[in-house]
Amino acid sequence: MSENSIACHSNGNADTQPPLHRTYQVVVAATRDMGIGKDGKFPWKLPSDLIFFKEITMTTSDPEKKNAVIMGRKTWESIPPQFQPLPGRLNVILTRSGSLVMATAENVITCGSIPSALKLLAEPPYNILIEKVFMIGGGQILGEALNAPECDAIHMTEIESHMECDTFIPPIDLSVYQPWYSSAPEVENNIRYCFVTFVRLKTSTGGPNSIPEVRCNGSILDFKKFKVLNFTFLPKIIFEKHEEFLYLKLVQDIISNGNDKGDRTGTGTLSKFGCQMRFNLRKSFPLLTTKFLKPTLVIDACYGSWCSCCTEGFFGEELLKSFCGLLVDQPMLRFYKKKTFIYGTEMHPGNTLTGLADREDGDLGPVYGFQWRHFGARYTNMHADYTGQGFDQLLDAIDKIKNKPDDRRIILSAWNPSDLKLMALPPCHMFAQFYVANGELSCQMYQRSADMGLGVPFNIASYALLTCMIAHVCGLVPGDLIHVIGDAHVYKTHISPLQEQLKKIPKPFPILKINPQTKDIDSFMAADFELINYEPHQKLEMKLAV
Ligand SMILES: NC(=O)c1ccc[n+]([C@@H]2O[C@H](COP(=O)([O-])OP(=O)(O)OC[C@H]3O[C@@H](n4cnc5c(N)ncnc54)[C@H](OP(=O)(O)O)[C@@H]3O)[C@@H](O)[C@H]2O)c1
Repeated sequence: MSENSIACHSNGNADTQPPLHRTYQVVVAATRDMGIGKDGKFPWKLPSDLIFFKEITMTTSDPEKKNAVIMGRKTWESIPPQFQPLPGRLNVILTRSGSLVMATAENVITCGSIPSALKLLAEPPYNILIEKVFMIGGGQILGEALNAPECDAIHMTEIESHMECDTFIPPIDLSVYQPWYSSAPEVENNIRYCFVTFVRLKTSTGGPNSIPEVRCNGSILDFKKFKVLNFTFLPKIIFEKHEEFLYLKLVQDIISNGNDKGDRTGTGTLSKFGCQMRFNLRKSFPLLTTKFLKPTLVIDACYGSWCSCCTEGFFGEELLKSFCGLLVDQPMLRFYKKKTFIYGTEMHPGNTLTGLADREDGDLGPVYGFQWRHFGARYTNMHADYTGQGFDQLLDAIDKIKNKPDDRRIILSAWNPSDLKLMALPPCHMFAQFYVANGELSCQMYQRSADMGLGVPFNIASYALLTCMIAHVCGLVPGDLIHVIGDAHVYKTHISPLQEQLKKIPKPFPILKINPQTKDIDSFMAADFELINYEPHQKLEMKLAV
């Protein structure tokens, strides 16, 4: 799709030239039941929304051009006369009756239908003068235009508070649109709202050209290609808000400005200390898209920690399979159960690192799962039964989230100093705090040491999943994941592939769906999770530093 959003749509008649049409983006504010107006006016007073609307519709990348706003006659009439026409934009008013008498013709044109308006804007001089086209309401216009194939994106201000309305628009067809970005909820004049931008991924719903969902049920990844692959047509202020850029910018910053440091593996790193990324879990799931997250790498990046817990039931076998199961097939799990782990005796003969020469392959010691479920118990080996021993932090956290949601001590700690000497590798992601507000569960995770290239994409996904799972069993919705990193490093061997990755444009994050029937943290199965529309760029090889 070009920046100018001019597209050719064939009418299927081979004898006639296909007409040139503009595509467009919708900008609208709507309640949860898609109410947009009352008594010919906005039902709410939201100055921030008006600022957002102005910024989106007025900004152009080319200062010589302007954007067009298309609206129904009644929406035009709802604009206070002193603000008509909306300044700095071409105002296109749709009227069938032709009853509209314009006092001023400058920056205003009328059209008798949506197709004729889009055609006009695709022809000279408007094809040159007009950069982007926005459809701005009201109900009748968006009834026709919201889910139409020419609509590339929908910028929606979602009004979460209840508001009385008499004008409505249809629901967004979520089988063809996916969130590109969504803001954290804000409150103004006692109204809770957030900004969400949806982008069109597919041509139509259910038609011959439609593309089935990409599902990931724990065993098979079934990737299909999307219709739209490039989202640079979005306004820059929206395009740049995709949260994957937080990761990409941090990687770029470390490569450009990081300290040159030695490390335990002898590979050499560039490193920065004290970094933070914030991911909004409300609408989508932060599984990075600028590279393919290969199933084996999920395990590698987790240093086998989830699986170690899994094999020993420290965390709940099915829960951990679920953790991995989203991205790992069952043969892979079996492989990791049997094979020596990367920090086991095979990679480090004699296990000189930790002095654990007697350890059985695959026994990492009292790592994450053990600490989460049996903190304080005496560790012997990975086969022992620890039922009832130590402190179950996970259940305690879930109990507090349900029954004492304002508690400021809802914490899961994998860092147990007296057990560190027994671990093959001390925990990297060592500490998580949970926070409940407005029916949402947020998690802040502290990671002492983070391999940005290989590990961090999976650390983000793992804790996003944990937050979603705990929110689910507590009857809450996921809020934010805040990822705080101590030593954030790029291995020198990863610089080149990461520079390749930095050239890629993110795609929308996938959506995570959890089986509503599963209510207990220990009874999750891989099949309880569905990852919809994960369509990453291709895989990038990065070698694991050990
Ligand atoms: N929340 C928001 O973001 C938002 C945005 C915009 C508007 N609004 C609200 O929505 C309400 C207005 O919406 P509405 O549904 O009543 O009216 P509307 O869609 O703004 O305008 C309807 C008029 O547009 C013309 N029209 C409709 N479909 C057409 C088509 N396919 N081709 C050519 N002309 C067409 C007709 O004009 P003629 O009768 O002249 O033929 C029709 O009467 C107001 O309350 C307004 O405040 C809210």
